[in-house]
Amino acid sequence: MSWKSSQTGSVRSLDRSNRLLQQAQNMIPECSQTNSKGPTQWVQGVAPTHLERGKGSHVWDVDGNEYVDYPMALGPIILGHNYPAVTNAVEQQLRDGTMFSMPHPLQLAVAEQLIDVVPCAEMVRFGKNGSDVTTLAAKLARAYTGREIIATQGYHGWPDVWMGQTSLDRGIPDVVGDLTESFEYNDIESLEQIFTAHPGDVAAIVTTPVNLAEPEDDFVQRMREIADREGAVLIFDEILTGFRFAVGGAQEYFGVTPDVACFAKGMANGFPISAVAGRRDVMQTIEADDVFYSMTYAGDALSLAAANACLSVIREENVTDHIFEQGQTLQRGYNDLAAAYGLDHRTECVGYPPRFSAQFSDETGKPDRLAKSLFMQECLERGVLFSGNHLLSYSHTDSDIDHTLDVYETAMETVADAIDADDIDDRLDGEPIGATLRQRTGEDG
Ligand SMILES: Cc1ncc(COP(=O)(O)O)c(C=O)c1O
Repeated sequence: MSWKSSQTGSVRSLDRSNRLLQQAQNMIPECSQTNSKGPTQWVQGVAPTHLERGKGSHVWDVDGNEYVDYPMALGPIILGHNYPAVTNAVEQQLRDGTMFSMPHPLQLAVAEQLIDVVPCAEMVRFGKNGSDVTTLAAKLARAYTGREIIATQGYHGWPDVWMGQTSLDRGIPDVVGDLTESFEYNDIESLEQIFTAHPGDVAAIVTTPVNLAEPEDDFVQRMREIADREGAVLIFDEILTGFRFAVGGAQEYFGVTPDVACFAKGMANGFPISAVAGRRDVMQTIEADDVFYSMTYAGDALSLAAANACLSVIREENVTDHIFEQGQTLQRGYNDLAAAYGLDHRTECVGYPPRFSAQFSDETGKPDRLAKSLFMQECLERGVLFSGNHLLSYSHTDSDIDHTLDVYETAMETVADAIDADDIDDRLDGEPIGATLRQRTGEDG
């Protein structure tokens, strides 16, 4: 079955996509290994379900349809898909072997690069996922301080320590969630309250230093001051911001140095590697007899080769400037279009140029998934992989941005017409999107 747009009449085959989704429904709970990549995050029946190839800023679905990519695998693809310097480094290493029974010397090269560029980094350990290293950071803080409570803001991965106090806590014993306390970004009082409620027992402040909203009243600096005053470990989760906001991450961007920071996305252009980097005395806690952190696949030679090549490109070329500039053009262009079509009270790209999110709200200010679904549909149909999340890469060209803004203009016009006519439902050719993970945990609007 081919997919025919009710809006443009164009025909785009999604046959193989739809077949693969059916197979996945039978074999893979949620049909995806990553929440934000699953079918509920896309307009089902209109969006492809599986992507199989990428080059630079473009990807191809399993039916051969081409798209300009903006989620970029949720952030890891910082240079572009199949970026030559990284692909070549990995191909060369592949011929020499992938994993060994002792560390590969590339672990030193990558550690050295991180220590050179990341302000807080005196020692480094690697993992495979962001969750590995955020969880290690929390464990380290507890071991280092001898305290139990973790004060946290933002998403830090799927482990119990992070999800136990959210609404997605099934399968997690209450006792785990009880040891994690949430505070709000830009609400210093909500952080202070945790210290008041647990005097002398807060091990760490864990934060995503850059959120969609800009910090107010020196919020980032004040977290540093509270950690110092209370003897807690300040942990920056830089999994999304590392190497993207500045080569040295958000800590360089804001000029506030944490005790420990976690990195993953953007470190190896999509190869699975993550890192904890931090102050020597905190990091050395790992060497204490009874703190255990070990996994078979961390430190594999392929991911280290990819990280070494990727970090070199980021340091030697103007990657972060390019991402900022292209992001700024696209973000401003989107917001100007929203104003031009009288939708600026209904949709806005919020965040910073290297990471921004197109948000849609109804008249009451609640997330408007129908309007977003229609916008998404119009974009997909015209070759733009729009999820709302924009994580630009070094490979996004001026012509990508121009083309995307043309498509956004058409989509904006359609959404404006549909809101006027009150017929979004009728114009949707598929199932509207479900709530995002951040909406489900109450983080983003
Ligand atoms: C800020 C942040 N921290 C932690 C994580 C978890 O990383 P992973 O999914 O690799 O375990 C993510 C993933 O999206 C993230 O964005």
